[in-house]
Amino acid sequence: MTAPPPDTRVRPATEENIREAARILRSGGLVAFPTETVYGLGADACNDAAVARVFEAKGRPRFNPLIVHVPRPGDAGELVVFDERASRAAEAFWPGPLTMVLRRTAHCPVSLLASAGLDTLAIRVPASPVAREFLAATARPVVAPSANRSTAVSPTTAEHVLQSLGSAVDLILDGGPCEVGIESTVIDLTADPPLLLRPGGLERSAIEGVLGDLESPGRMNETELRSPGMLARHYAPERPIRLEALEVREDEALLAFGPEPLPGAAITRNLSEKADLREAAANLFRMMRELDDPRVRSIAVMPIPRHGLGEAINDRLRRAATPG
Ligand code: TXA
Ligand code: MG
Repeated sequence: MTAPPPDTRVRPATEENIREAARILRSGGLVAFPTETVYGLGADACNDAAVARVFEAKGRPRFNPLIVHVPRPGDAGELVVFDERASRAAEAFWPGPLTMVLRRTAHCPVSLLASAGLDTLAIRVPASPVAREFLAATARPVVAPSANRSTAVSPTTAEHVLQSLGSAVDLILDGGPCEVGIESTVIDLTADPPLLLRPGGLERSAIEGVLGDLESPGRMNETELRSPGMLARHYAPERPIRLEALEVREDEALLAFGPEPLPGAAITRNLSEKADLREAAANLFRMMRELDDPRVRSIAVMPIPRHGLGEAINDRLRRAATPG
């Protein structure tokens, strides 16, 4: 018996392979890369279609907001607004296993799908040298959830990534096992006191030493914790949304899907003329914002299939349609 040939998508993290991985990511591909916490499934954070591929690859039934990774603390200022607390935390813990949720800057180029339509963004600077070299080589912000299917455990070796994601990933940079092995700690600095959203690789006490007490997640209600999509700051259009629309009413905007958009809308955006769910996911949050226009009274949404990414698209639309 001979061993099966090694998968050529798994590559040692040499300088040349890192450059190749960065090229793949810049052209819209998915690259798994090691960080000190777990392996991440990386995509160009500014490319809606690439971000949609991440959700598809993970098989997530909902659009959970993703973490944006940058190689140096100085790169974060373009994307999120730093206040004094955030600057202190960055100074103390970056690079490292701390993720901070902060407000997006007005000109933030990151895909709205990456933050699931929120006005905030989770951001971190990983400590792993391979991760930082890779991020520097891509020269753009990179979204990276843990590189596993949504129900599986987070991968801490390149082999785990391959087993979990298989053909969904274009290249896996092998940097050996992850040092920390559990995900980064996530704190929300748009709240006062800051919230500990996810305990992780950086201990609470270390953070409290710098920022003072963190609000315990136990104090938040369960719905909020389970679905960041339900948090108050979550973007929901001001105008009411009408799902499964079969006709357009007076003064309505239309969110269409497929080759035959309904006629008669004041404004129309088509999620995907060719009825492609990945394209639809990529366009969803941007188009909802574009249709939330003072000239219209409500937003009609054509039926969207429920398979594949359609499940997450319908989930998000349902939430947007039931405010409060
Ligand atoms: O260690 C890590 O953080 C790994 C490595 C690859 O960096 N990444 C990771 O990403 O664990 P992911 O997508 O599996 O977890 C993201 C977490 C989720 O708990 C999500 O709800 C939260 O961050 N999150 C992301 N953006 C958020 C936002 N704008 N507001 C609140 N929570 C957010
Ligand atoms: Mg995860």
